[in-house]
Amino acid sequence: MCGIVGYVGGQSALDVVIAGLKRLEYRGYDSAGVAVLADGGLATAKKAGKLVNLEKELKDRPLPDGFSAIGHTRWATHGAPTDLNAHPHLDNAGRVAVVHNGIIENFAVLRAELATRGHELVSETDTEVVGHLLAESFSSCGDLADAMRQVCRRLEGAFTLVAVHSDAPDVVVGARRNSPLVVGVGEGEFFLASDVTAFIDHTRSAIELGQDQVVELRLGGVTVTDFAGAAAEVRSYHVDWDASAAEKGGYDYFMLKEIAEQPKAVADTLLGRIDTTGALRLDEIRIPASVLREVTKVVLVACGTAFHAGLIAKYAIEHWTRIPCEVELASEFRYRDPILDERTLVIAISQSGETMDTLMALRHAREQGARVLAICNTNGSTIPRESDAVLYTHAGPEVAVASTKAFLTQLVACYLVALYLGQARGTQTADEVRTVIRELADVPDAVGRVLQTMGPVRELARSLAQKDTVLFLGRHMGYPVALEGALKLKELAYMHAEGFAAGELKHGPIALIEEDLPVVVVVPSLRGQPILHDKIVSNIQEIRARGARTIVIAEEGDGTVEPYADHLIRIPVTPALLQPMVTTVPLQVFACELATARGNEVDQPRNLAKSVTVE
Ligand code: F6R
Repeated sequence: MCGIVGYVGGQSALDVVIAGLKRLEYRGYDSAGVAVLADGGLATAKKAGKLVNLEKELKDRPLPDGFSAIGHTRWATHGAPTDLNAHPHLDNAGRVAVVHNGIIENFAVLRAELATRGHELVSETDTEVVGHLLAESFSSCGDLADAMRQVCRRLEGAFTLVAVHSDAPDVVVGARRNSPLVVGVGEGEFFLASDVTAFIDHTRSAIELGQDQVVELRLGGVTVTDFAGAAAEVRSYHVDWDASAAEKGGYDYFMLKEIAEQPKAVADTLLGRIDTTGALRLDEIRIPASVLREVTKVVLVACGTAFHAGLIAKYAIEHWTRIPCEVELASEFRYRDPILDERTLVIAISQSGETMDTLMALRHAREQGARVLAICNTNGSTIPRESDAVLYTHAGPEVAVASTKAFLTQLVACYLVALYLGQARGTQTADEVRTVIRELADVPDAVGRVLQTMGPVRELARSLAQKDTVLFLGRHMGYPVALEGALKLKELAYMHAEGFAAGELKHGPIALIEEDLPVVVVVPSLRGQPILHDKIVSNIQEIRARGARTIVIAEEGDGTVEPYADHLIRIPVTPALLQPMVTTVPLQVFACELATARGNEVDQPRNLAKSVTVE
């Protein structure tokens, strides 16, 4: 949420910052702005709307260029997405410029205090107070990093801040609390960004910033301290993917590319976790087997699509480990005072590793003594840093706001954790684990085969572009898949879409069925519980009898559904517990195509942003 870039070096700072913002636009696209230190002063430009508006502004009214600059792409929290509320925000003398991601909770008090000292604040944002406070502190201490530390000590809430001052040439200063910021280290040039994609064209060498740290970039190097000014330990890392991973690679949208990358993402997430004998090796889970054996409850916390991964994981965890398992929306978790202790294993699932609701849930869990294992796609992000252990998914960068490949890899990671727990507790024999591992190794191929048969799904999606509502039904693991199908359609096609457990139909939702209403039904594998399969076939008949247009997702060879399916989407035969990894894929394609047919922006749906760093 909000993308931030800072640069000090020998290249055109404006070019570097604009290119970085393009890479970060998925984090917010309500407005964009830049500030550059040039000709001994500070030049800024900002525009409401997408980055192209700012680029046009810079073409019409070019700024002087320099070697240090900052930039911002906004997802609005305080104040409407207008030119005035766009970042950067300045002090009254126009000497300080600051960009911000997060929410400054005590901004109203600070604003009132600044007003008594004669400051005039012009925007509706919480951020503007920081520019004014920085200007005051800088005028007394003459050092921008020191001024930033003084200001941060007064702020409450979540913030990443990056600032420049016209009296501090070739210095860019950043700070972070509860919100992401990474440093890129090039040759004689340094970068700050919300994530590494912003500078991956220039360097793959990065530094993680810890909680409550201030970083100063100068041409001579990088200095990191805590908010009190004490030197901080610096953790460097190498980014193991290159710039092409963050490009569209010939696809019209990142989402299409990311859907197509799923077979590889699944295979990569399994890579290195299975030894030559076919046994499971998860050395990175540093929680001792003795502790895992004592676990009495597993709680999965996550948001949105990651929450749906958790709902699916519950079936596998309970089946393979016999440990009771709860799945909770991270945003609700801590407010209901959950019962946790040192024998509870909390699994926090997050693609970005920065989702504030999930972060707050895991902090609460740790305060209660629970162990927290993160399943995360973003190296060095806050959620894995604050967890007891982490299992990284290897989906590569996911840029489209709607999560696809990250979801499939979250499922892989959940299955691996479930098997690992089962292995540690003896509820799964080594042979049983090996069998599932072999089945998991077949999933990339199955997903690849689904992707090759998506032509009719696209055609069907286009034919439904004028509909107002689509319903999704499933049973057992197909139920969370139905929820995920509905979520994708809501966020991308802006249609009314609902997922239901098919058994609940008769308790209310069946009243929604009317003539020609599209209803997608996820049919469980014939290899699972036969009774489930039979029941959903009855449900299909019930809705069809009431006029629904049935869109049925069923395994190859399942002939029982044919008479009742107006549209039949075939998927390869897959073990019942792994089936969500293939049934989800047509639903992603369906939503993407329907959104395109309705003229919506697939990668940047309205009102949304990736990486939700506010509660
Ligand atoms: C939906 C989607 C969101 C995210 C949710 C959690 O397509 O992408 O629902 O899944 O915001 O994000 P992470 O996984 O980054 O914690």
